[in-house]
Amino acid sequence: MKYVVANIKMNKSYDEMKSYLMGMATRFSNDKVDLTIAMPYTYISLGKFLLEESAIRVGGQNLSEDEEGKSTGEISGRMLRSSGAENVIIGHSERRKRFKEDGKSINLKIKSALKNRLNIILCIGESASENKLGKRSEVIREQIESAFKGLYENELDNILIAYEPIWAIGTGVTPSAKEIGAVVKEIRKIISDDFSTTAGEKMRVLYGGSVNGKSIGQIKNVKGVDGFLVGGACLDGGEFLQILNNL
Ligand code: 13P
Repeated sequence: MKYVVANIKMNKSYDEMKSYLMGMATRFSNDKVDLTIAMPYTYISLGKFLLEESAIRVGGQNLSEDEEGKSTGEISGRMLRSSGAENVIIGHSERRKRFKEDGKSINLKIKSALKNRLNIILCIGESASENKLGKRSEVIREQIESAFKGLYENELDNILIAYEPIWAIGTGVTPSAKEIGAVVKEIRKIISDDFSTTAGEKMRVLYGGSVNGKSIGQIKNVKGVDGFLVGGACLDGGEFLQILNNL
């Protein structure tokens, strides 16, 4: 099974989202792909309604650290879950940067998502400068270890890790298949060190960053990669379906 998460980010009006989801619901059919569409909060209920009869899962793109109460403008895990989301992206680099989300905050978000029975897509990845300085391994280890602090091994069953190097997001540049393979191996090693070999082997690891019709050919068969997190190339339903049908 390949896991694919479409990250809509902050795109599409309500009407555009509605026709996109209706198109995906009728046209997506691939029993080798477990597909989630991670949509803006305001479209979650619409997503649940329009995707109910399809195999596509509804996902959110973030959630609050808090459970309830005094957090004006925030959305809790309970709200997401009860509106129809099954999955949620946590720790996307755009949020880490813009909203200063750090390891501690991401750890709290993961715990809240687990409590509310949401599966998690945890995003990790180094910046261009960290990559140039040879700090990739260090950054990845720190991001995983701070995110998973205090978790029980069985809770990892509800988590997927998406390796998204920041320099590959929206740039059209992707790491080589060899590099992706090496990072995926490192991720499994970190989980093995901190939990168990079985947990390392079982962890589902996705790749994200400029996954599109052109790049998918060379990255789709990288050993150890269980799927993809797609940004820009998911926005056009036709183009996205072509990628999905090629997996
Ligand atoms: P692109 O696919 O547009 O590079 O975006 C990747 C991403 O950030 C998905 O979360």
